[in-house]
Amino acid sequence: MKTKAAVVYEPGKRIEIEELDLDGPRDGEVLIRYTHAGLCHSDIHIAHGDLEARMPMVLGHEGAGIIEEVGPGVTRVAPGDRVVCSFIPNCGVCRYCATGRQSICDWGATILDGYLPGPRFAFTGSRGEYGGMCMLGTFSQYGVIHQNSAVKVDDDLPLEAAVLVGCGVPTGWGSAVYAAKVTPGDTVAVYGIGGIGINAVQGARYAGAKNVVAIDPLENKREKAMELGATHAFATAEEAQQAITEMTRGQGADSAILTVDLMTAEVVGAGFNAVGKDGVVVVTGLNKLLEPTINLPGSILTLFRKTVKGTLFGDCNPTYDIPKLLGLYQAGDLKLDEIITKNYRLEEVNEGYDDLLAGKNVRGVVVHEH
Ligand SMILES: NC(=O)c1ccc[n+]([C@@H]2O[C@H](COP(=O)([O-])OP(=O)(O)OC[C@H]3O[C@@H](n4cnc5c(N)ncnc54)[C@H](O)[C@@H]3O)[C@@H](O)[C@H]2O)c1
Ligand SMILES: [Zn+2]
Ligand SMILES: [Zn+2]
Repeated sequence: MKTKAAVVYEPGKRIEIEELDLDGPRDGEVLIRYTHAGLCHSDIHIAHGDLEARMPMVLGHEGAGIIEEVGPGVTRVAPGDRVVCSFIPNCGVCRYCATGRQSICDWGATILDGYLPGPRFAFTGSRGEYGGMCMLGTFSQYGVIHQNSAVKVDDDLPLEAAVLVGCGVPTGWGSAVYAAKVTPGDTVAVYGIGGIGINAVQGARYAGAKNVVAIDPLENKREKAMELGATHAFATAEEAQQAITEMTRGQGADSAILTVDLMTAEVVGAGFNAVGKDGVVVVTGLNKLLEPTINLPGSILTLFRKTVKGTLFGDCNPTYDIPKLLGLYQAGDLKLDEIITKNYRLEEVNEGYDDLLAGKNVRGVVVHEH
């Protein structure tokens, strides 16, 4: 069949909309009709060449849709099911899945190549075989994905909101709840209030933090953070540092969660200084794969028993956490509609990313037309 998709051919070039051919689902695969796709910063890292990916690639890794057809051996989903895609597949049996660490499933190894197991490419077009970002490629009207990337959700969930639980929400929420292990009464600093950071704010607040300090140079982001659970908001790390020192009487924050768009040693240094003894710094935001973004005084790390850790997908287990987070949304404890700034048509994907880079959006969402 044919599908319209947003493709990146070369780093630094604009994203192009092209009609591609889509093969049918084979063993373990499903045909999905995407209804919505979120505009996460990670796709722009690919388009800019910060993350080196195999090209051409159909972008988009935050997605939701409806299963149209299933290939042989598919047991996890059936035609008609509504699903949220997981940007890391979970095989269920590798050492990481088997021990409750689905976010680092071995199947994640090829998400920047974007092919399906085999390897094989379901998308083909004028420039040969096309991968899909994170083995998905949600900026396409239709996709063929592996069942290990699809999580069935309740029939009555609005996919226009649930789509965010494919990446931004679990990554941010889990960065606070799982990676930073926020506990009641904590002081937590969140650096960078985009689609990821706003959910770190929500997670920290839900986990019972006393002080949730949001740091972002943009006023609209700080306002949104205050609306959704932050107790303080500052434009700079320096102002936040001073306030954290005062509010904790010199002890420092319990954790710092770093969700800026382009990670730097400066931001990691700010988070490191903001946390006190036994404090945890969670590095969620990305930069070029080999860019040295950590330059810290190791003896302070040792003597203050600090921890600096990375997290992928907020350490979430997609088959458990995606339904759980959607349950919190249904209960009103997790806000999703409030963090969608604007909807776009697939053809407007470049405009959506221009808006993201201009700081206008907490999250933009592509609404697919069929
Ligand atoms: N680890 C993971 O599993 C994972 C998953 C998804 C996204 N990411 C990464 O997380 C990062 C954030 O993604 P997003 O979609 O939320 O991006 P975004 O563009 O929506 O938000 C980034 C925010 O950081 C702010 N910012 C920039 N520099 C800052 C600074 N020095 N101090 C404070 N705030 C600053 C920006 O103003 C913006 O509001 C990206 O690098 C993305 O690739 C990681
Ligand atoms: Zn993402
Ligand atoms: Zn696995």
